[in-house]
Amino acid sequence: MHKADIPELKKKIDASSKNVSDQASLERFRTEYLGKNGVLTGFLKGLKNAGPEERAFLGGELNNIKSSLEAFIELKTGELKKEELNKKLSSGSADPTLPGINFPVGGIHPLTAVLHEIIEIFSKLGFVCADGPEIETDYYNFEALNFPEEHPARDTHDTFYLDMADGKKDLILRTHTSPVQIRVMKAHNPPLRILIPGRVFRHEATDATHSFVFNQVEGLVVDEKTNFEDLKGNLTVFARKMFGENLNTRFRPSFFPFTEPSAEMDIECIFCAGKGCRICKFTTWLEIMGAGMVHPSVLKAGGYDSEKYTGYAFGMGVERIAILKYGVNDMRLFFENDIKFLRQF
Ligand code: PHE
Repeated sequence: MHKADIPELKKKIDASSKNVSDQASLERFRTEYLGKNGVLTGFLKGLKNAGPEERAFLGGELNNIKSSLEAFIELKTGELKKEELNKKLSSGSADPTLPGINFPVGGIHPLTAVLHEIIEIFSKLGFVCADGPEIETDYYNFEALNFPEEHPARDTHDTFYLDMADGKKDLILRTHTSPVQIRVMKAHNPPLRILIPGRVFRHEATDATHSFVFNQVEGLVVDEKTNFEDLKGNLTVFARKMFGENLNTRFRPSFFPFTEPSAEMDIECIFCAGKGCRICKFTTWLEIMGAGMVHPSVLKAGGYDSEKYTGYAFGMGVERIAILKYGVNDMRLFFENDIKFLRQF
């Protein structure tokens, strides 16, 4: 290949482009020049044998030719397609009134949407996310959280035990996200302001309000000075952002082995606004989560000085929040993947 051959090549390309009249001849044209053994491909490969000056010149020219060839092919492809369509339309073999192809777009699952909303609200309150394993040891799920073996509080958690070769019952599916409190404390120094979303498992029969797998969001704050007032304040801000400004909340005394004092947090019924209805069972309140001040022995299990530090923790069920938020009456709907249900969100 020499400088002088360039005009000849252009002429040749020009001539053969005139023969392109349909898809097949266009494809032949493409292979003739740009195919693996095409003319242009060959010249480009041969460039390495040219002297440096000639190589620069020829390289530039050949690449220009290549670009215009590609542009021609693209243009021609479009033209040929249009021609073909016009032929079909005028012969009546294509019906332009048929509906187009519909590509359904996926959406965010309502549980994920609610989880994102929970995380968003707490992240504005300074919380960051952490997570832990779904297969947990008895120690983290119970022992370190102040549920001694044989303690009756364990009965409230219908636990799945994993079959172990040695017959021990050490590994379980976590029954709550609280074991991650201990894991986070062991891995990080205080202060902490942590949110722990995660899947949990309980050996329960499925019905409208129970499932053997569900999702929780746990919160844990540890600092030198935290008190029940902080707990109430932060959780009330959360509830109002989630369910409506000016919403009334209340904290009822309760019991969890890993918090002391413990409370259940209720919001004023959002369905009847305090009048009493079936959903609030005529109490005018809806329970949304458990909470309390972290028990000193839990701080100790996490390796923290329980004289110096205090903390509060809370745990809520994502399905429960979603049920209340969207007015869904059966939590199984969230797991059945029925598009008709999911499309409403
Ligand atoms: N882990 C408790 C449960 O699953 C909820 C909870 C978390 C209560 C943190 C208090 C503090 O029932």
